[in-house]
Amino acid sequence: MAIAMTTGYSAQTEGARLCIDAASDWALTCVEQLTNDCSHVLMDYGAADGGTAVGLWSQVMDRLHQRQPKAHLTLIGNDLPSNDNVALAENIAKQLGRAPNPTVLVSARSFYEPLVAPETVSFGFSATAMHWLSESPGPLNTHTHVLASDDKEALARFTAQAMKDWASILELRSVELAVGGRLLTVNLSRDEEGRYLGHNGGVTRNVHDQLHQIWRSLADEGVISEEIYRKGTILNFYKSPDEFMAPLKDKTSAAYLNGLRLVDERTVYVPCPYRKRWNEDADTAAFAEGLMATIRSWSRHSFASVAGDETADLVYERLKQRIAASPEEWSLDYVEHHQIMERVA
Ligand SMILES: C[S@@+](CC[C@H](N)C(=O)[O-])C[C@H]1O[C@@H](n2cnc3c(N)ncnc32)[C@H](O)[C@@H]1O
Repeated sequence: MAIAMTTGYSAQTEGARLCIDAASDWALTCVEQLTNDCSHVLMDYGAADGGTAVGLWSQVMDRLHQRQPKAHLTLIGNDLPSNDNVALAENIAKQLGRAPNPTVLVSARSFYEPLVAPETVSFGFSATAMHWLSESPGPLNTHTHVLASDDKEALARFTAQAMKDWASILELRSVELAVGGRLLTVNLSRDEEGRYLGHNGGVTRNVHDQLHQIWRSLADEGVISEEIYRKGTILNFYKSPDEFMAPLKDKTSAAYLNGLRLVDERTVYVPCPYRKRWNEDADTAAFAEGLMATIRSWSRHSFASVAGDETADLVYERLKQRIAASPEEWSLDYVEHHQIMERVA
């Protein structure tokens, strides 16, 4: 599993918080539709340090408590064992000290495993986390990200792995969800025009191409071997709306057979907050530092795990230099797919 966020996640990911904020209307709709019960479990899958979702969970808690004042609420923050789960526990605990004073828990396991008992979760939520693949679908020899590569054969392998993983995630969640429960996924995606995080259709440079160019330059200079160059792969995948909906339209899929149904879906665009600020203040040094740090937060592990910390640091030093040299050509715009699902049986 080639994923680990760098420390201080929330401080470096203003864009991810904006993506969560953009989904808050649908999160509130989901909890408004829950039938009255004596208790509800709410779960945040792939929460990182939980800081980006504190505001969302406050709103959700307030709304659910308002509608169902007698219900006991439990909030579970989930992420990998390698995550900063102490920080996650602290951020989840920010929901304490006021009504409804929920029970708060941390689940330090992969969301590719069953995480709670069947029919437990009333409202499941996940933001910007389920694009990481559970395992490598084999080599990507000519690029660091499959969607930016021209490798059709690798694309087919990565797509197949992404679809297998998504089917598996939905199957697991369909078991955990209570009947009548709702699941809202907010995922990095690929729109009809092929745009995705870091690729805004050519308005600014493709961030994945830039990372690859830097990685290639390290191989050309002999800093890394050709073998390490080939191993430096960002093991994630941005699915299309059709790919996200596929297991819910396939009546033979395990998730569908468990009663999981598609309620609504949409694609939402969140412009790069660092670029927006630079447009206003033209502070190129702050822009280069901020944008580099946010890109580093999700990509560093892919390079550090195969080439070591020092080489990874070199990648981001060069990235920062590139941004600073031509700031007008940089922006990290988000393309996110929102999908509401319900368990009906
Ligand atoms: C970009 S962060 C998003 C964090 C937060 N949800 C947000 O939107 O700001 C992605 C998170 O997903 C977590 N993640 C990736 N694969 C996971 C898995 N298999 N199980 C649980 N968490 C996972 C990572 O550890 C990371 O903290």
